[in-house]
Formats: sequence, structure tokens, C-alpha cells
Amino acid sequence: MFDTMTITKAFGSLCGALLILLLGGWAAEGLYNVDRHGEDHVRGYVIIDETAEDDDEPEEEVVEVAFADVYAEADASAGEGLWRQCQACHALNPGQNGVGPYLHGVVGRPKHSAEGFSYSDALMSLEGDWTPEDLSSFLESPRSYAPGTSMAYNGMSDVEDRANLIAYLATQQ
Ligand code: HEC
Repeated sequence: MFDTMTITKAFGSLCGALLILLLGGWAAEGLYNVDRHGEDHVRGYVIIDETAEDDDEPEEEVVEVAFADVYAEADASAGEGLWRQCQACHALNPGQNGVGPYLHGVVGRPKHSAEGFSYSDALMSLEGDWTPEDLSSFLESPRSYAPGTSMAYNGMSDVEDRANLIAYLATQQ
């Protein structure tokens, strides 16, 4: 029930609460100092120094990148340049198979559906359509996604690159 994640989260919120308390305390102190030195015009700048110190508080946050979020901001024109990595084996023209199947309209297309291309058993065993998410997983590592695939491509590790490339492919409908 209490797995590591739960404990980490609980600890995290506790730290957060503590931080807010501390920051609140400092803010109150700052206000108090303003009152106390209200008449002391020469020392006014000291208060500014104190508030500047508060901004230095380190804020640690772990950011997990979800493909959907990256894809929502993807840049198809940046993807066009990445398409060069695929051109040795793939064409975008409908029906034009090369080493690999033609990729016209591949985003949203049923898997292994290029007419006249003979796919490996690995590709044939995949089900459903090529959603942007599935394409991303396949392109990240073709051999992990479809063990035994005949697509001799190592993979594209950068999630932004994959999103941009898929956004470009989506313009080729
Ligand atoms: C060295 C040649 C080669 C390169 C480079 C290559 N592919 Fe492929 N690709 C293939 C082959 C061969 C297949 C068929 C795989 C199978 O049947 O196992 C394939 C299959 C695919 C499929 C599945 C299509 C379908 O109809 O189900 C997609 C999508 C794909 N490739 C995208 C890409 C993209 C995008 C790139 C560039 C980042 C790329 N490929 C680079 C050879 C290549």
C-alpha cells in the first residue's frame, strides 16, 4: 500500500509546507523590518537586500516529459530536416516502396498497410493504427518496439526530434 512513490510524495508535500512556512516567516520579518525602520530613511535599502535573498531559495522540481505535451508544441518545419534520416529507405509518395514501405499518410494509417510491401513478421504482428504515440515509441527504438523488425534504424532518442518529425509526417496526408 505504502510504496516508495507514496512515501516520496508525502515527504515532498511536507517539505513544500515547511518551505511555505519558512518563506511566510521571512516575509513577515521583512514587513516587520519595514515598520521598524520606517523613519530611518538611510537604512531603507537594507530591506531590499533581505527580500533579494529570499529569491535565492533553491526550488527543486522533477519534470517528466510526456510525449503528448511535446507533440502539442511540435514544429513540423524542424521535422522536415529530420526526415532526411529516413529518405534512404522511405518515400512519401503513395505506392512508392523502397527498402521500406512508403509513408504517405502514415500518421493515423493502419500498421503494415502499405500496398505491395512485404513486411516482416514482427511488423505484421502489430495491431491498430500508427498514432503519434505509437510512432514515437517505434522511432525511439524500432528493435524494442518490434523485436525482429527489418527496419535497420537505430532510433531517435530525443523526444522533441521525434515529435517534430511526426508532426512533419502528419502534414503528408
Ligand atoms: C535502413 C532503412 C530504413 C531507415 C533508415 C528507416 N526505415 Fe522505416 N522501415 C524500414 C523497413 C525495412 C520497414 C519495414 C519493417 C518491417 O517490416 O519489419 C520500415 C518500417 C517503417 C514504418 C512502419 C510502416 C508501416 O506501414 O507499418 C514506419 C512508420 C517507419 N519505418 C518510419 C521510419 C522513419 C520515420 C524513419 C526515419 C527516422 C525510418 N523509418 C528510417 C526501413 C528503414
